Amino acid sequence: MKKIILDTDPGIDDALAICYALNHPQIDVLALTTIYGNVATELATQNALRLCELNQRPVPVAQGALTPLKIDSNPVADFVHGLNGFGEIELPTPSLQPVTTTAAETIVELLNKFPNKVTLVAVGPLTNLAIALELDPTIVNKVDSVVVMGGAFHCDGNVTQYAEANIWNDPHAAQQVLTADWPLTVHGLDVTYRITFDANYLEQLASQAPAVGGFLMDAAKFYSQFYKEHHNFDGCCPHDQLAISFLCNPEWYTLEHGTLDVITDGEAPGKTSIKATGHSNKAIATDVNSEALLTDYAAVLSQAI
Ligand code: RIB
Ligand code: CA
Repeated sequence: MKKIILDTDPGIDDALAICYALNHPQIDVLALTTIYGNVATELATQNALRLCELNQRPVPVAQGALTPLKIDSNPVADFVHGLNGFGEIELPTPSLQPVTTTAAETIVELLNKFPNKVTLVAVGPLTNLAIALELDPTIVNKVDSVVVMGGAFHCDGNVTQYAEANIWNDPHAAQQVLTADWPLTVHGLDVTYRITFDANYLEQLASQAPAVGGFLMDAAKFYSQFYKEHHNFDGCCPHDQLAISFLCNPEWYTLEHGTLDVITDGEAPGKTSIKATGHSNKAIATDVNSEALLTDYAAVLSQAI
């Protein structure tokens, strides 16, 4: 089993990724840790708990930072994910409660409890990971690896010409996380735009798993409307899923190795870059086997309720 901590801002593509992770037979989700981005952090926490209840998988949920390290908070992405983060599809108020430790404390605690056994997956702004690094710098040697959805290396951003949303929301945290001396793979827009979940595919998920797939199909309608209006294509991009599919099937991905950097100030805050170097424990994904990913995602989701 692959032990993971999933740091997330649910969010519709976060929901797609969380439901897959919670139902994957080889993934052991030790905790969901929450962050602002698609919604405010408090709502991200409630949404993570809602998804645990929907999937009948009561994993610990730890609430994270409410604001970025240095910049003022950007507005939440309600025009992409709806006011409730789930495209205005309501799930019941959760009866589960978050744990009392913060996201960063939970990350530090679990990496120390299971040294070199835990993959840290981050699919929202990277504030919690940066705080965890500050709380305990030794975690760089205790994590198995770090997998991030964020950035736009060889393509345009999705918030500004240069910046992808997760990096743009806290460029200082991203700079710390992408340059820390730990093994890290980043899935930016270069690769995430290569996968589309269209209406037929989402209907298939719903028919296989009426409760979980049905919810995801309904929530994704709002998200797909955004892609129709802003990108003129049918369906939606499951950005965050690219990081999760990588965990058990890295062979589907093309990687480019090098050192990474993030611009924090000036004219292009949030711009990410890679420089080829002889030896690097960092990589970005540039391509993926989309057929394999789509087939596998549906197979895992068919095991959901
Ligand atoms: O740019 C895509 C990323 O921003 C995804 O993680 C999505 O959930 C939003 O947070
Ligand atoms: Ca996300």
